[in-house]
Amino acid sequence: MGRRGHKKQKAFKRATVDAVRKARIEKQQGQSTANGDEATADDRPRVSTYDDIVKENALFEKYYKEMHLVPDNEWDAFLAALKEPLPVTFRVTGFRSHAFAVMHLIRERYFQPLESSTAIEKPKELVWYPGSLAWQLNLSRNQLRNFPELQRLKEFLYEQTEHGNISRQEAVSMIPPLVLDIQPHHKILDMCAAPGSKTAQIIECLHRDETNPIPSGFVIANDVDNKRCYTLVHQVKRLESPCFAIINHDASNLPNLKFNDENISFDRILCDVPCSGDGTLRKNPDLWKKWNPGHAFSLQSIQLRIATRGIQLLAPGGLMVYSTCSMNPVENESIVAQLLQTFEGHISLVDISEKLPGLQTIPGLTKWCIMGKNKEVYNSYEEVPPHMQSLARPNMFPPSQDILERLHLERCIRLLPHHQNTGAFFVALFRKLDKTVEVPSTQEETSQKRPAEEITFNEDGANFKRARYHRENPFIFFNEKDITGFWQEISEFFGVDPSFPADQMMTRHAADSGRNIYFVSDSLKQIVTLNQDRIKFINMGVRLLVRTDLRNDKDKRSLRLSQEGIAIVNKYFTKRRIEIEEQDLINFLSHAFTHYANVSQSVQKQLENMSQDLGSTICTFTIKQHNLEVPIIFVAWRGRSSFRPFVSHSSRKFYLSLLNIDHLTINDIIEKLTIEEKASNEPRIEGKTNNDPKIEDS
Ligand SMILES: C[S@@+](CC[C@H](N)C(=O)[O-])C[C@H]1O[C@@H](n2cnc3c(N)ncnc32)[C@H](O)[C@@H]1O
Repeated sequence: MGRRGHKKQKAFKRATVDAVRKARIEKQQGQSTANGDEATADDRPRVSTYDDIVKENALFEKYYKEMHLVPDNEWDAFLAALKEPLPVTFRVTGFRSHAFAVMHLIRERYFQPLESSTAIEKPKELVWYPGSLAWQLNLSRNQLRNFPELQRLKEFLYEQTEHGNISRQEAVSMIPPLVLDIQPHHKILDMCAAPGSKTAQIIECLHRDETNPIPSGFVIANDVDNKRCYTLVHQVKRLESPCFAIINHDASNLPNLKFNDENISFDRILCDVPCSGDGTLRKNPDLWKKWNPGHAFSLQSIQLRIATRGIQLLAPGGLMVYSTCSMNPVENESIVAQLLQTFEGHISLVDISEKLPGLQTIPGLTKWCIMGKNKEVYNSYEEVPPHMQSLARPNMFPPSQDILERLHLERCIRLLPHHQNTGAFFVALFRKLDKTVEVPSTQEETSQKRPAEEITFNEDGANFKRARYHRENPFIFFNEKDITGFWQEISEFFGVDPSFPADQMMTRHAADSGRNIYFVSDSLKQIVTLNQDRIKFINMGVRLLVRTDLRNDKDKRSLRLSQEGIAIVNKYFTKRRIEIEEQDLINFLSHAFTHYANVSQSVQKQLENMSQDLGSTICTFTIKQHNLEVPIIFVAWRGRSSFRPFVSHSSRKFYLSLLNIDHLTINDIIEKLTIEEKASNEPRIEGKTNNDPKIEDS
């Protein structure tokens, strides 16, 4: 090839790389705007640096100024705040004893060293979040560079996020689940759930009673986007709840779900709809150049249809929260006004302005306008020129004064960025009154249709043209034969209590050949059994047992306990348990394998009294520190000569911290552990749920 040929080839390669890079960047941008993706947006690479982007948009300023979205004397502060990056916010998650232990650790070890410095902005508590468990921090690059204490705090937060102890979630995004006042017996629907930061919060509320790992309530989390449903799986799996399921439907047409021979009416519904997302400008500064008033027009119809379906699915006395991360009243008050009129006498708007003491809000708007793309402003539908009438519909405008007075739109709340250094947000809470609302017949018809992806299959079912979605394996519950046959041997091995509901276990294949055995609550089993032919279930349940790679596949030992189901195992499995001592715990956490010669006498005694079979063992210890009791329960494999605990690095770090071991020593321990793991050729246990490596069989 001559020089010109080489040059051409090089240019082609460069162009291809650029095109791929551009496509990736555009994809990232697209995802981070319209979907208001709280859980992942913080870590997304940005195209240009934050400071490069011109944070101005004349249409935006004119529109919101014209309608007095914020009091006139606050306009400059409002605009200035929108141009600043968001502080980091996080909340401590999980069961109360764990959450308080984590918070204690953060305060003692990471917040206290910040106290002495006058140059560091102190962590700020989100006072309206219960239990002092949510905080706001300035972790700007400048601060991190200058203060190693902050860098250490940042690393700890990352690790604990991996462990599942901490959720990095935008402050305002924590509000909708809080106003829903969720109780463990509630039937809950999350209509547009992915990526799932609010779903996670809801599931935590459902499990607020630490003594009961299987509450009677449940959460059905839905999203129309099949791929995003799997992000949701990742987000909520770490909560290890047997009481939630993920489904994949258009929420505006969500089929009825059968339960106890009736259609389910939900006690609580979260309706966090797709929106234009200008409340996230601080997180997604690229929106500055894209913003235009037309975005809201195109979303209003689907938002209204989703919220309408939500009200239909709500139980009498139940609550539905409608929320967006948009400031545009077309996506907010106009939807609320329309719902209140459509369901007049059946629903009311709950005043939530005082519900979270310490949270600064402004009331919903009662007056607004809409704007065309040439900055022309219309105050009523009558002013809209014919060429715009198909875009700007009458219900986008405020209703007449006499109707407005009945609706009480001021009961909605708006969050403004400059009030508490947050994003902007809108929340409205509806209560369904004690009257039924007729479900229009179209919904019933829709509910009888088969899921969309099945329509693409040919009649023989084998040769499909192009399935729109990944087709899930069915969920197969244990039947009488499984329980009296296959399960019996395992049950004896682990001493499973007779009260254990074995029929709530399931696989994705036939019971005796499935790789994983899952467990769901009684209510969820009913829902899946009654609806599996019409509802597209993506995921549910906690993994209780995992098939290992032992030679004899039919051997009961070839099923290993999974850490994911530990709360249920701990409640019902009575054999193969050892109570370890503090020194054992430190040993287990510090090594990939702990030889029996190195365990405490008490553990040696317990091992002698236990069946000598190899296999899973449940280890328990309670850390008692600072008036807190933190139960530590994990699964270890009992080999011929040693134990192998199934504990991820992030969990090991956390437990070692709770044992008052300093972070430098912990880092040393983990470094040595990694070398041990490499030498033994065992894969590292990564996340909390990814605990499925080969098993030592020696
Ligand atoms: C604002 S995000 C939801 C954020 C989520 N509630 C959270 O807290 O992580 C909106 C979600 O609605 C989904 N969506 C869009 N149209 C939908 C529809 N017709 N039915 C159900 N979900 C829809 C999008 O895929 C997106 O995941």
